[in-house]
Amino acid sequence: MIKDIQQKIIALKKKNDVCILAHSYQAHEILEIADFTGDSYKLSADAAKVTNKNILFCGVHFMAETAKMLSPEKRVYLANSGAGCPMAEQMEPEMIRKIRDAEPDRKVVAYINTTAALKTVCDVCVTSASAVKIVSAMPDKKLLFIPDCNLGSFVQKACPDKDIMLLNGGCPVHASVTEEEAKAAKAMHPDALLLVHPECRPAVAALADYVGSTSGITKFAKSSDAKEFIIGTEISIAEHLQYECPEKRFYILSKKIICPNMKLTTLMDVYNSLSSIEKDDGEAFEIHMSEDLISKARLCIDEMLRLGG
Ligand code: 13P
Ligand code: SF4
Repeated sequence: MIKDIQQKIIALKKKNDVCILAHSYQAHEILEIADFTGDSYKLSADAAKVTNKNILFCGVHFMAETAKMLSPEKRVYLANSGAGCPMAEQMEPEMIRKIRDAEPDRKVVAYINTTAALKTVCDVCVTSASAVKIVSAMPDKKLLFIPDCNLGSFVQKACPDKDIMLLNGGCPVHASVTEEEAKAAKAMHPDALLLVHPECRPAVAALADYVGSTSGITKFAKSSDAKEFIIGTEISIAEHLQYECPEKRFYILSKKIICPNMKLTTLMDVYNSLSSIEKDDGEAFEIHMSEDLISKARLCIDEMLRLGG
């Protein structure tokens, strides 16, 4: 059944010149039919290179918006219209404008998990994989890092010469894990290495053997000589790693690290979106942005690709 739908999807995307981009938090059967997979930095770089007329994004809204900004001449669709990222909606541009006015020499670094409107008041974007590299490469010392204070404090530790102002935002999924839960997971699997995403609380990150982005965690686990790992990011990563490294054992840090938004997209959503793109019946969820918004919001993404490349 899954294979049948996958075959139909492959035929439809070919026929209608659609490139499928899927974030690593998507289900295995979606990654199997995608043209590009990876974390948010890699997918941004991939979106800029796509040659197809259409892009179908399997992930959350800000990721499809980023793809649209990088390829404005293409039609960009999000496979499930309800898939948003709560962190991306946490701060209003006006609030950041006020801080900029009060401290004009403080440059604003935005995690890519932000709306396009918020990006228009920021100087550079970062992803979890590129944040330390980009912040280190910036000549400025005084920075405001939004919205994720956990990722921001991870960057501050890695770049002690910078003066980084943080606000109270972050990923409700990763930040839900407590220090006590992390200690309990380590006690339950004493031989396993703990690998966590920097969106986790600093007290959890402090217990980890490795802190890094989705792609960083994946690379670390694959290349490590260790045989057991506790994965402190969205549970799909433990599942994908288990497929790729059957000789190793992967445990989830907590059952709470399930992103309900990333989990919304199903293989049927992909199939239905492609069928609708073929008919051009307006049912597929297309990303529409004004040229003005694209040109203003894109500046900090271009800066991210320049400094992070
Ligand atoms: P990555 O930057 O590691 O892809 O993470 C994106 C995200 O939404 C993490 O929760
Ligand atoms: Fe947003 Fe967190 Fe889900 Fe990532 S895991 S998409 S940051 S809510």
